[in-house]
This record gives sequence, C-alpha cells and structure tokens, in this order.
Amino acid sequence: MHLLALLPLLVSVSDLILTSAPSISIFFPATSATKVCTLQNSFQPDFVAEGDFVIGGIFPLHYNQEMPDLNSTYLPPPVNCRFDPRAFRWAQTLRLAVDEINQSSELLPNNTLGYKIFDSCAYPLTGQRAALAMLNGLKERDAPVCSGASPLLAVIGESGSAQSIVVSRILRPFRIPMISYFSSCACFTDRRKFPTFFRVIPNDDYQVKAIAQLLIHFNWTWVGLVRGDHEYGRFAVQGLLQELQGTQVCVAYQEMIPLLYNRKRALEIISNYFVMRSSLAKVVVVFSAEGEMTPFLRDYMNQNITGIQWVASEAWVTASVFTGSEYYPFLGGTIGFGIRKGHIQKLWEYLQTVNPQQYPDNVLVHELWEALYGCSSSQSFGSRLPSCSGQELLLEQHSAYMNTSSPRVAYNVYKAVYAVAHSLHNLLLCQKDRGPFLNNSCAQSNNIHPWQLQHYLQEVTFDIDGEEVNFDLKGDSIPYYDVINWQRGTGGNIEFVNVGLFDGTKSAGEELVIQDSAIMYAGHQSKVPVSICSTSCFPGYRKAVRRGEPLCCFDCVPCDTGKINSVDCTFCPEDFWSNENRTACISKKVEFLAYDTLGIILTLIAVVGACLTMAVFAVFFYHRNTAIVRVNNSELSFFILFALTLCFLCCLVFIGEPTVWSCMLRHTAFSITFSLCISCILGKTLVVLAAFTATRPGDNIMKWLGPKQQRAIIFGSTAVQVIICVAWLIDAPPYPSRNTEYERSKIILECSVGSNLAFWCVLGYIGLQACLCFVLAFLARKLPGNFNEAKFITFSMLIFCAVWLAFIPAYISSPGNYADAVESFAILASGFGLLFCLFAPKCYIILLKPEKNTKQHLMGKEKK
Ligand code: TRP
Repeated sequence: MHLLALLPLLVSVSDLILTSAPSISIFFPATSATKVCTLQNSFQPDFVAEGDFVIGGIFPLHYNQEMPDLNSTYLPPPVNCRFDPRAFRWAQTLRLAVDEINQSSELLPNNTLGYKIFDSCAYPLTGQRAALAMLNGLKERDAPVCSGASPLLAVIGESGSAQSIVVSRILRPFRIPMISYFSSCACFTDRRKFPTFFRVIPNDDYQVKAIAQLLIHFNWTWVGLVRGDHEYGRFAVQGLLQELQGTQVCVAYQEMIPLLYNRKRALEIISNYFVMRSSLAKVVVVFSAEGEMTPFLRDYMNQNITGIQWVASEAWVTASVFTGSEYYPFLGGTIGFGIRKGHIQKLWEYLQTVNPQQYPDNVLVHELWEALYGCSSSQSFGSRLPSCSGQELLLEQHSAYMNTSSPRVAYNVYKAVYAVAHSLHNLLLCQKDRGPFLNNSCAQSNNIHPWQLQHYLQEVTFDIDGEEVNFDLKGDSIPYYDVINWQRGTGGNIEFVNVGLFDGTKSAGEELVIQDSAIMYAGHQSKVPVSICSTSCFPGYRKAVRRGEPLCCFDCVPCDTGKINSVDCTFCPEDFWSNENRTACISKKVEFLAYDTLGIILTLIAVVGACLTMAVFAVFFYHRNTAIVRVNNSELSFFILFALTLCFLCCLVFIGEPTVWSCMLRHTAFSITFSLCISCILGKTLVVLAAFTATRPGDNIMKWLGPKQQRAIIFGSTAVQVIICVAWLIDAPPYPSRNTEYERSKIILECSVGSNLAFWCVLGYIGLQACLCFVLAFLARKLPGNFNEAKFITFSMLIFCAVWLAFIPAYISSPGNYADAVESFAILASGFGLLFCLFAPKCYIILLKPEKNTKQHLMGKEKK
C-alpha cells in the first residue's frame, strides 16, 4: 500500500510544482551509489501529529491562487497565495478534536490519533498535490520502514467541491474514505464515481430547493444567477434551474465569474444593460465562495450600484470577510442558507493557544499574525512589516480567525473527526468471528485497512452537541439550514442574524420556516423588494406571453366577454356572464316577452281587438232582427265573433314568463280558437255556396245544410284540431326552456314546442282550413246579390293566408322572445283582418246606412 502510494510522487508531475515553498530533496540510498532515487518535489504538511492511526486533513489555508505558470524554461517560483484565517481556524478545529479524542477515556481509550494537515490553496491542482503528498510518507527515509497498511486511514477534506473531486479520485484506488466538511456539490451523489466520499454538509439538492422556495415565498419571480467557475457553481445553478421549472420564477440572466478573475468580464456582468445594473431582476442568487467574490464585490461596489438584493449560497453567507461596515450599503440585507451551526466548547481557548511563540517554526502561524495584526512576528521570513512579539492577545476583534460564537464549517470539521473516531472505536470493538468482513472476520487492530474503516463509517451514528450524526447510503448527512440575514450591527458592521430554518426532513411545504418580520432587506429596507419582470395584470385582464421571452414577462390584454379574472381568463359558470370590466361574474339577464313596451302594446292591441269584437257582437245582437244580420246567418256570425274574441284573448298567453301551463296553453288555445273561427267561416261559405247554387228553391242541398248540419261541420272540423292538440299535449307537450345559444350573455326564456311535427300539423291544419275556405269563397265570389258575403270571405282569407305565410319565415328566424312577439302579431293581424273584412261592411250598413238594411237591397232586387 505504501509503495503504491509512493508511486505517483516518484513519477512526479512537474505541473504540481506550485508550492508556496517548494523543497526538493535528493535521496541517496546507502546501498547503491549509482542509482539515485530522488523525490521530485516534496510537500510538507503544515501540522503533523504522530499517532496509532493517522488521519489526513486538507484545508484551503490560502486562497486567490494564481493560474499555473506554463513557462517551462524555469522552475516555477512560489506563487502568491493569500492566507485565509478562516480555514486556519478549521484546521485548528481538527487538531482540537483529535486532542480531545486522545484525552478521552471513552473514545479510543487505548489508542491515539495522529494527523497530517495539508494546504490545498483552494484550487483543484494544489488539492491534488496535497492528496498525493498525504499518501506518501513525510521523508524518503520513511519509505523502507513501511510495513502493514498505510498509516493514513481517512481524510478530512476538502472544502471546495472542485478540490474534493480531485482528492476523491486520488484516494479512490486506495479505498481511503474521505469526509468533506464543506463540499456540498450534488455531483457527489453518484456512488460509483465517488465510492469513498462522505460529507457532513447537506447535499446542494436541498439548498437549491430551499432557495427556490425562498424565491417563491417572497414572490421574486425575475432573478439573476451568478456563479463561480467550478463544479459547485455549475451543479448548483443547474439544480436551481431544474427546481424552478414549473414555478412562477424565471431567470433573467446567468453569469459566471471567471476562474482567473478578469475585471473586464466582471464589469460586463455588473454594468451591462441587461445584467445587474439595469435589469428588473433586483434579486441576484450567487453560488460562489468568498475567494472569488471578493474582487467581484469590490468592482461592484466601485460601480456604485445599490438596490441589489443578494441571495447568498451557503459558501459565502457566513463569510466574515464581508462583515466590514464599508460593505453594508452594498451587501446589507443579503439572505441565504447557512449550514447548521454547533457549539464547540473549548474552541476559543484552543485557538488562543496558537501563537508564533508556541510555534516558532510554523510558517502558517506567522502568516496568521501577519494577517491579523499586520505585523511580522519572525524576522527570518524577510517581511517588510513592522515586527511584533508574537505574544499578542487574540481577541474577539480578530473575527476572521477568532469567530467562534457560531461555528458552522469548523463544527463540520469537528463532527467529521468524531465520525472517524467513532467508526474506529466501533471497528476496534469488533468481536472475534462476529465481524462484518469475509467469514465474519474483524479488522486487525495493528493492520487496519482503510476500506474496513469505510464500512464502519457508513454504519456509524453518534450524538454530538445534541445532534445526531450519520451518513446515508450516498454518504450525505441530514439536510438542515439556517436562514441567515445580513443586518447592521452596532458598529455599522454586518451581523449574521438567524431569521428562519429549512429542514429537509420535513414533509413537502413545511420545510421552510421564515420569520418575515425579522428580515432587513437590501438598502436597509424592511419592505420586501420587488423583483419581477412584468407587474401582474389588473382584474379583467389576462397575461399574454411575449414572443421569445420567458413566461414571467408578459403583456396584459382584456379578457373576452363571458370570462373574468386576472391570472387566466376563465369562463363564468353556467347562467353567469362577465360584467363590463370582466372583474366578476354576474347572473345572466333573463329575457322573455314581458310586460315591457312591446308586451304592453301587444296586450293593448289584443284587448282592443277583443273589445271591438264584443262591440260588434253587441251591435249584431241589438240588430239581430234586421235584414243584414238575418240574411247572413246570424248564428254563424255570433259563433265567429265569439271565436274571434277568444283569438284575441289567447294572444295574452304569449306575454309574460313562460310556465309549464302557459306553454301548453299557448299553441293549443291559439290553434283551437283559430280552427273554430275558420270552421265557422267555412260553414258560412258552404251555406252561401249552397244557397246560390241551388237552382230550384227548396232544393235538397239546403236541406243538408240546415243549422244542425252547420253546427256539426263546425264542431267536426274543430274537433280534428282538438284531437291533434290533445295528442300533442299527451305525447310531447310544449315546455318552458332556457335558450343560451342565441345570445351567450343572456338567458332567453321561451316555450319549446316539444314536438315540431305537432306544431307544424296544427299550423298546417289551420292553413288547410283557410285554403279550403278561400277556394270555396273564390268560387262563390261572382254570385249575384248586393251584399255578397263570398267576396268578403275571399278577401279575409287572402289577408289571413298572407299574414300566416309571412309569419312562418319571420317566426323561424326570430330568436326566443321575439318569436313569441311575431306569433302574437300574426294572431292579432289575422284576427283584425277577419274582423274587418267580415264585419266592417255590415256594421257600416247597420249603423250608418240603415236605409240599405232591407232584404230587397241586399238581394239586389231593389227597384231603382
Ligand atoms: N459548498 C461549497 C462547495 O462545495 C463551498 C466552497 C468551499 C466553495 N470552497 C469553495 C465554493 C470555493 C466555491 C469555491 O464547493
């Protein structure tokens, strides 16, 4: 194992020469002077402690890595990494945890843990260097002494996902488990690619879900996305876009901060018309870490843009670099999800013990002093800074390093070390022949293989600070976040305030809890900023998506008639229609031939008609003994007048709201009265015809048309109509119905005929009678006599037929209530036609020309 691990370093890779202090050692084996084995490059750990079991730690103790120098004509000079006190604190937390475990009498009582801590410089390539260096022994002389399994059992690291991917690939062939304290990339879920990867930070799948819910919660539907150029950013943006699919939220732009910071590109993002400066997307979600954010934010602040509401990812939401008061006007109000914090009891004291006096040879500690105090504690490093003793007190104000009030990443490191310790502890507790390995064997305590530890890591569960720690099958841990809001502290600096939580284990919809009132938004506002592309439509309008633009950008167009609402115009329920503004559904107007103007006119005409008929009746009755009445068969005339009165009155049934009864009555009453009326006229015509065609007086024909027969004819021909009507009423009576087809905004109440056949039969029968009457009267029109009844009958039938022929097309083409009006008019018109044609001339003679009211005159036999 050890040799295998040595291999990569011996065939070492020249592009790894990126160390901040490269030291090349040459190794001359004692046995051979000719063969020289040299280490191409050796990378020393920053902190080492011996122990029975050694774990590795990789931390980004420096950041702002410059790109590798590609020139191969000289050995690359040490690169300028900047010291990161935050990561240094994490490294110290690992040391603290190991110390605690070594002192513990419960956890690994008889064994000690050792560690080797390396710097990854927050860059994949340097992370790779750290991983390779960690696999090797510290010195060439370590190589021959190796025996048994590698002393390196597990690795705690790395921070950034991009580095963790590289480290995990290097560790994979050796089956060395790694526990990352900060790599949240969703890409690690593929167990086939990263079989030895564990982490104590939630998978980003949960974070993007939380961010999506946050955006929806504040109705931020038009947002910008900015990410760093690494796997973490790429996968997070991809996940967030997926999560936002099917929601109201749209992405205005997606930008990437280049890996090698490029001011020109950054300014394009910041000041470009479509991007930050002028976009309506006031909310910007950033997946990036403080390292790359620092120059970007500096340029952003130089542009003097304010009003951006930042949504920070877990990687920078608790970065103390940005807590200075100069940041507040630009970054105040930032909201984001921070990983779970915990409490590490002895952290503060432990961190205080680290000072240049204690570690005079450790470069990092001197660098820490440089970073915190701006002074050089060691003259040997050739610094131009003022010198200091190295005994300075570490205080709260050195928050970049001493911030221990709510450790989050440091707490993760702490948990990770304990996870290894607990797993090792369980491994050592293995009972003989009851082990989990082949043939129920256990691991040998003096020769533990890392893959054996991996098995125990997968199984481990323990409690720390009241929190349960374990790993699921993919090596992920429990998804829990704090919602963090950047508010102004007393000194004008930024404070991270907890304003809610996201618990991924809760059921959907209950995961996110936010205390809205506690939040301070960008620009020191307590009102939620607006970040939308188009303001929502007024009621009565609907969204019309603009061609080629996302769904969140739309125009508003008014709803069609009959539809209301703002989101989407929806149809009003049946019997309802939109109001003028399309804001509400109101019940449809119900229309029928009511007692409005038209109804009243019709009623009046009908009543006048009926009265007139009765008046004629009265006149005839009063003058019933005069010639003109008698010669015209008074009984039939009274019948006709009676029927006509009914005809006028039945018109009234057509006015008013249709009911079951009025519908049944309408057509039947009308058809029977008309039938009766025309039957009488027909009887009369027959009589006239018979009277004059009888050549000899006392001819038989008259005998056949006596009053009795006449009544029988009238009765008989009316009975036919009655029978049709009865059949109609029994089989398919007319019924009231609601017609919404003709005009969709109204309900027209009308009488449906029930059976069209019956309706047309009834009309047809009346028509048949009228035609018959007309033909007979026409035959009799030339008969002698001054007062030829037949002429008037012909005329009246002509009018009658004309009216009804006109009625049919008008009836068919009129909608609901108007059809009723048309029918009423036809009834009235034909009624008046009959009344006038048949009775006006007689009344004229009776009332105005009584001298002509003699039998002689009427027979035309009057002597001149
Ligand atoms: N969760 C981030 C990640 O998985 C945290 C992080 C640490 C990071 N270091 C970084 C992100 C550097 C970007 C760059 O990567």
